[in-house]
Amino acid sequence: MEQASSTFLQAKRYAVATGANKGIGFEICKQLASKGVLVVLTSRDEKRGLEAVEKLKESGLSDYVIFHQLDVTDPASIASLADFIKTQFGKLDILVNNAGYIGAILHSDAFVRAFEAAGDWVYNLYINVYLFLTDFVVLL
Ligand SMILES: NC(=O)c1ccc[n+]([C@@H]2O[C@H](COP(=O)([O-])OP(=O)(O)OC[C@H]3O[C@@H](n4cnc5c(N)ncnc54)[C@H](OP(=O)(O)O)[C@@H]3O)[C@@H](O)[C@H]2O)c1
Repeated sequence: MEQASSTFLQAKRYAVATGANKGIGFEICKQLASKGVLVVLTSRDEKRGLEAVEKLKESGLSDYVIFHQLDVTDPASIASLADFIKTQFGKLDILVNNAGYIGAILHSDAFVRAFEAAGDWVYNLYINVYLFLTDFVVLL
């Protein structure tokens, strides 16, 4: 039993989804959580994000969803999320780059810091984010 528990912990996967208070990002969080992946649902607006997390908790996914604020255009916000991931999980397995922002400003150092904990699986829905992905994918 102890060994089974240890195996489960080793197999645990951690994900971050950007712009996940609604739409595709929200649905991806729901799907990942329902598969047993611990998902950090992020939103630039704390109130909208917490409301989205509540909806998933009502669906019985409370053990697998947590909230963290993230505005993908704000380097301080990105760094804060990176610190949170490092402190809480020590790694990141899945990054869902869902939040779209046309004409995004590239803060490459900040993005690298934010996602240096990224693991082995990156899912990119938005073409502009490719610019910063190229900066941190080398760290995977
Ligand atoms: N739906 C489609 O058919 C389709 C097709 C091709 C590509 N896409 C791409 O797929 C992604 C999701 O589409 P969707 O239909 O689910 O869009 P959506 O319903 O409009 O949701 C977009 C999400 O991104 C968030 N967001 C916007 N700017 C942000 C920022 N600076 N920082 C953090 N979050 C931010 C929004 O937050 P707020 O609620 O605060 O605005 C919202 O949660 C987008 O990148 C879109 O371009 C969608």
